[in-house]
Amino acid sequence: MFVHWGLYALPARHEWVMNREETTVEEYSKYFRRFDPDLYDPNEWARAARRAGMKYVVLTTKHHDGFCLWDSALTDYKATNTPAGRDLIAPYVQALRDEGLKVGFYHSLIDWHHPDFTIDGVHPQRNATDVESVNAARDMARYREYLHGQVRELLSNYGTIDYLFFDFSYDEDEHAGFWGAKGAKDWDSETLLAMVRELQPDIVVNDRLGIPGDFVTPEQYQPAGPMMVDGAPVSWEACQTLNGSWGYDRDNLNYKSVDLLIRMLVDGVSKGGNLLLNVGPTGRGSIDPRALASLEGIGEWMQLHSRSIYGAGTSQFTAPPDTRYTQRGNRLYVHLFAWPFEYVHLPDLAGKVEYAQLLNDASEVFLQEVDPGQQAMNMTPGGQPAGTLTIKLPVQRPDVAVPVLELFLKPGDFND
Ligand code: GLC
Repeated sequence: MFVHWGLYALPARHEWVMNREETTVEEYSKYFRRFDPDLYDPNEWARAARRAGMKYVVLTTKHHDGFCLWDSALTDYKATNTPAGRDLIAPYVQALRDEGLKVGFYHSLIDWHHPDFTIDGVHPQRNATDVESVNAARDMARYREYLHGQVRELLSNYGTIDYLFFDFSYDEDEHAGFWGAKGAKDWDSETLLAMVRELQPDIVVNDRLGIPGDFVTPEQYQPAGPMMVDGAPVSWEACQTLNGSWGYDRDNLNYKSVDLLIRMLVDGVSKGGNLLLNVGPTGRGSIDPRALASLEGIGEWMQLHSRSIYGAGTSQFTAPPDTRYTQRGNRLYVHLFAWPFEYVHLPDLAGKVEYAQLLNDASEVFLQEVDPGQQAMNMTPGGQPAGTLTIKLPVQRPDVAVPVLELFLKPGDFND
């Protein structure tokens, strides 16, 4: 579970509100003075994540607005100096560990509050009249030191951190539209990454430092297939929102249905990826009922179907239309995005399946092969291409978001 939480939860109109509304640091400070998350209970967050079937949580330690949720020694712009009055990261880390979840941090490379971070085309002050003179007095080397120092704090003071999501680089060659774009050189990404690995040798780090990381991060789209970089397969994780915003966005009602979210999860796993699904808690620190309902819906499905997700990935077999395959060893999972009338036909699986059942209730389904030469007639369907396995389904679709068939492949008929 991804969690975007910070001062922007108070305006409640997207985590980029400072950028969109070109808010000055001074104007934005009204949220700093009012940040009072009286309902913040990371144990609740952790329970909601675990019940939804998630294995790790990734929280914004600092987002682009520069506000820090922990008691950093390097800035006053932190939760301890707001009405919250305390470090909010320490109890978060503890709550995850208590729930048996892995601990992840998101950390923004961008900082619209720091006095040495130069104004550029994505900065809230991009249209100010004095950009040149302001920038002349700023020193990115000092910002870099701050960035590295804060990452050092985060990775030194909270025990084992399993996952780190840096965000983001916008080099000129990739983001031609932004003037003053920033990337690996500005962050000194090589040194930063080396420090991360030294402090937390087992951590996994994303790819947004402008240099390769451990996994790639498609955002708000579903890749068309397994992801590749320079022709080689790579680990990937799609980050997705519930409604198009990451931070709490009160009036944005563009919610994805639970069915769609589950199909996105399945689709990702069928292509060898993970899903990092976001919630944006409110300014009071709780996950709002709409988001909770989505998590609960996913959890309900996961309770019966997680076998088709955990440890599963791409299949050696090709899924027919309206289905997604995931595979783990000799188990092949057929996710039915549409419920056909009585029969589903699976190419190249004839003779390769020992037993098959619906996953939600372990009820047997029958296997057959239809002679390719069979002539269609009145009540007799026509033949299927050689090698096709036909499975007979009940007329009634199981009442789950995505029904799944679990196929046990015969030894020797699958790749480990
Ligand atoms: C982005 C956005 C952002 C969000 C992130 C999540 O690049 O800047 O607001 O935190 O993606 O992946």
